[in-house]
Amino acid sequence: MYKALTLALSMALIPAFALAGPPPEKKAGIESKDYKWNAQEGEKIEALKLKGDPKAGKEGYEVCGACHLPSGAGRSDGTFPQLAGQHTTVLIKQMADIRAGLRDNPTMYPFAKELTDAQELANVSAYIESLCIPVDHGKYEGPDADKQIAAGKALYEKQCIECHKANGEGVKEKFYPVLAGQHYKYLLRQMTEIRDGHRRNANPDMVKVIKPYTNDQLVAISAYQASLTMPGSMCKAKPAAAKGGKKK
Ligand code: HEC
Ligand code: HEC
Repeated sequence: MYKALTLALSMALIPAFALAGPPPEKKAGIESKDYKWNAQEGEKIEALKLKGDPKAGKEGYEVCGACHLPSGAGRSDGTFPQLAGQHTTVLIKQMADIRAGLRDNPTMYPFAKELTDAQELANVSAYIESLCIPVDHGKYEGPDADKQIAAGKALYEKQCIECHKANGEGVKEKFYPVLAGQHYKYLLRQMTEIRDGHRRNANPDMVKVIKPYTNDQLVAISAYQASLTMPGSMCKAKPAAAKGGKKK
């Protein structure tokens, strides 16, 4: 069934909306006074306790590859994030949040919903974590890139490094995401949504930091994040996963 879906998707380039059933019920997030970030409940804690099997996860990932690409690299236009090498903890939390209606993602929800149980969540996450982070992701490409990256670096080192670390490697046990290798345009969208309270599963301590940022500062800090590298964890995407000749 996954195979058929993947095929249908890649042929018609994602008429996902046609498949969408009813959206999830919205769970109260950062907009609510009672919001507790990363509450340890539901299928998330179950999946976190399980040992993921990357081999089984590879099969479960097939349906995801239609949007996030088989390599996990996503798309540089920022529509689909790069996932390869992300911590299993982060992947499980984000998937569980999307499934539970705590992070809004109408495009992906019908597919996220298809994963059967906590074990499959753990398996798919183990597979994604095992993929190498692509070096050739979307970067900031303006003529003032050097200036933007320098301004972003100064902000990052003051306010973000504590959680996301010097190379953007995050902290697995604390659910702090890897940022290195992520597309500039996706980063800018997430930073904007987190600042403006639209990413409802956001971390309140991070929101405090980013709340006063101007749009210009968000551009600079996104440019810097997209320039981060994690030596030893990154590689060129395999040829099969590179931009398909005809699609351009
Ligand atoms: C129809 C396209 C589509 C499919 C299929 C899809 N996704 Fe996604 N996914 C998205 C989009 C779009 C986003 C980003 C949403 C946003 O901007 O917040 C996303 C975000 C994510 C994120 C959050 C990443 C981050 O950096 O926070 C994870 C994890 C993820 N997807 C995993 C999966 C997995 C695992 C599957 C397969 C079960 C899957 N996706 C299938 C479109 C898709
Ligand atoms: C207190 C720790 C903390 C600080 C400080 C912090 N973050 Fe985060 N950040 C997080 C956590 C935790 C998440 C994941 C939130 C969730 O659970 O959805 C996150 C998510 C993100 C994401 C989304 C990643 C994705 O894959 O979707 C980006 C981008 C990001 N942070 C950038 C930054 C930048 C830039 C700064 C500094 C301005 C910063 N963060 C400061 C903890 C922090």
